[in-house]
Amino acid sequence: MEYKLGLIGCGTVGQGLLEILRNKKDQLKDKHNFEVKVVAISDKLKGSLLIPEGINLEKLLHILDEGKRISEYLEGTANEAEQMDALEMIEKCDAHIIAELTYTDIKTAEPATSYIKKALQTGKHVVTSNKGPAALHCAELMRLAHENNVSFRIEGTVMSGTPVFNLFENALSGNKIKEIKGILNGTTNFILSKMEEENMDYEDALLLAQELGYAEADPTADVEGYDALAKIVILSNVLLEGNIKPSDAEREGIASLSKEDILKAKEEGYRYKLIASTKKESGQIKASVSPQKLSLADPLSGIMGANNALTFDLDLLGKVTIQGPGAGKIETGYSVLADMLAIHRLFSK
Ligand code: HSE
Repeated sequence: MEYKLGLIGCGTVGQGLLEILRNKKDQLKDKHNFEVKVVAISDKLKGSLLIPEGINLEKLLHILDEGKRISEYLEGTANEAEQMDALEMIEKCDAHIIAELTYTDIKTAEPATSYIKKALQTGKHVVTSNKGPAALHCAELMRLAHENNVSFRIEGTVMSGTPVFNLFENALSGNKIKEIKGILNGTTNFILSKMEEENMDYEDALLLAQELGYAEADPTADVEGYDALAKIVILSNVLLEGNIKPSDAEREGIASLSKEDILKAKEEGYRYKLIASTKKESGQIKASVSPQKLSLADPLSGIMGANNALTFDLDLLGKVTIQGPGAGKIETGYSVLADMLAIHRLFSK
């Protein structure tokens, strides 16, 4: 079965997805009867393309690798898509699925939320790794998807392509979650690891995290805990069926931790981690993000570098910990593929 895909935002994650679609074309077709034709791309900085017969990914990726504008694809011929904004593009393209991969704005969730609404209202499935809309408007967007008989999927918003939501939709379904606790921000975990293991200064470690592409465009979202906060809010609302806003959770970042604190904890057999947690008590969600000193016996204390991990306390299984990448080009690109394959499984029956 062939799906037409529209990409809104073609930065690191979008390019990761395009590389995966190019490299795994045969495997996806042979093993999953799943084919993708990219028909539209809209990127605020790089330009736009609308090609109903499908974009040649090899050619497009070559252009992107060279840092050129997407419009170079048409080699000087008229490109009506250049005049369209993303909303018009979403409306005009006849994609089955829109991958919304623009930058995260945790405070306003825009313009991503408007793009997602437009796509759902025009009968398109939406897959996103954008934390803003999922943290602020998830229930409304899920409802809108349901009303339009399409899917709104958010696997990439938490732990990139490491399965969380898809895990509970399938393998872990039937469990009741008593508590979720984990490391949800790769940048701060990377900084804390570098400070402890390599005696690196905070500023140098942050700079390195930015160079490696883990940090948000504005890294204060990472170090002050807003990124982890958005993720724990999403988990609270989707997996614990809560209805909280980021301002309902307590938040503290890693700024208060000095290298001395970290090294002293190490001598005592402990390790500092930025821990996000959530649970439901008497119907009320209690969620927070704060630095915590963990015993080395805690599975979360062994998570180093930009990795993420979550421990779920489940009524039928007890504690289950998953760990894996929480950021990255291919890793987050994969989350979009995983959600598209889920749409294929659910809607092609
Ligand atoms: N800045 C985020 C992190 C990226 O460091 O985890 C993934 O959401």
